[in-house]
Amino acid sequence: MNVVMIGAGYVGLVSGACFAEFGADVVCLDKDEAKINALLEGNIPIYEPGLDDLVKRNVDAGRLSFSTDLESTIPAADLIFIAVGTPTRRGDGYADLKYVYAAAAEIATYLQGYTVIVDKSTVPVGTAREVHRIIKKTNPSADFDVASNPEFLREGSAIGDFMRPDRVVLGVESERAEAKLRELYRPLNLMEAPIHVTDLESAEIIKYAANAFLATKISFINEISQLCEKTGADVHSVAKGMGLDGRIGKKFLHAGPGYGGSCFPKDTVALIRMAQEHGVSSRIIESVVEVNASQKARMVSKIREALGGSEADKTIAVLGLTFKPETDDMRDAPALAILPALVDKGALIKAHDPQGIEEAKPLLPDSIAYMDSINETVKDADAIVLLTEWNQYRGLDLAKIKSMMKGKVFIDLRNVYERHLMEEHGFDYTCIGR
Ligand code: UDX
Repeated sequence: MNVVMIGAGYVGLVSGACFAEFGADVVCLDKDEAKINALLEGNIPIYEPGLDDLVKRNVDAGRLSFSTDLESTIPAADLIFIAVGTPTRRGDGYADLKYVYAAAAEIATYLQGYTVIVDKSTVPVGTAREVHRIIKKTNPSADFDVASNPEFLREGSAIGDFMRPDRVVLGVESERAEAKLRELYRPLNLMEAPIHVTDLESAEIIKYAANAFLATKISFINEISQLCEKTGADVHSVAKGMGLDGRIGKKFLHAGPGYGGSCFPKDTVALIRMAQEHGVSSRIIESVVEVNASQKARMVSKIREALGGSEADKTIAVLGLTFKPETDDMRDAPALAILPALVDKGALIKAHDPQGIEEAKPLLPDSIAYMDSINETVKDADAIVLLTEWNQYRGLDLAKIKSMMKGKVFIDLRNVYERHLMEEHGFDYTCIGR
């Protein structure tokens, strides 16, 4: 089975490598020559655990290759996945589809034999039909179907998510297209992964609705965490007690500094715009977005309060910059909202992150100092802010760290530590909702 992946970004590269692992012959295409050359030389442009080994293994086995050339690759394809970026359009929050539509038009001329064109990028409802229209218009004699196969990959565990999915969603409009896609995903039959076959529009909405629902769970628990703080309840225990109800589920109920990343912020806003466009309300999701922004802002006040009312001239050691662990991705990371506000008020920040420093530097104030080790970061600090729950920060040598600091404030924005333990070590401990 010949698969072409248009776009060798995060989704394209992970999906392409995983389809190759399933046994398909995959070519990842990208217009960015530098990126393709790097991939041909064995350099993976993103940090995702296990991806370099997976790519190497499949390149060595001859099942995975990289190219910039559509003309030589498209004609042989059985399935072409469009996995190009859909950034938020500047100014209005709509998903920008220019790359998706450009890919559709470019593919169209080279199609030969029956081909399924599959939207993998997260695209607003109606996009698959538009892709169909563009291809038909560009190449009226092409024999093709359009399908929608949204991805549900979490950064940091994308390969596991791909290989052991909760479900695969296939939006199709013909049995031929369904059969091709089922054949591609056949290796998942062994583990009985549910394949949910539906129409194009439903598949498109499933992706947005799933992400918006998960974002809702996070904003919900973040809001409850405030009530916990005021009343002496423990949000951790509240989340556990709620989550044991199978109808609620315990996942995505960790209070924190607000969600970030490449999906939730963008997809919630895009869903609101989509609803507006269709004349329906999306009051819940609007609130989710608002609560998330105020949660990030609330973290600044929390830090200020823990520092005795002012962060001016205080040295703050920040552990973790990326929006979550096991990624170098800084998109919409809480750090981007919290750290500039602290710097503005005169805080001196030293920051550490296992993978994200290069991505973070251009996005954060110049005055921030980036450290290579945890020890250097905490040395002489008035306070530590644990911002991303990397494993490295879960088992800190508390006695040593405390002895290296100037102050004793520890602000745990991921609720990694237990209060009694931190107090035993002499810290002034602040966390979320506990
Ligand atoms: C998400 C979805 O999980 C994935 O299915 C989708 O396709 C892409 O978006 P990702 O953005 O990689 O994946 O990360 P995820 O693990 O979902 O976390 C998103 C954000 O929510 C992070 O900032 C994380 O810290 C935050 N989060 C998550 C919480 O604050 N609390 C939680 O309980 C879970």
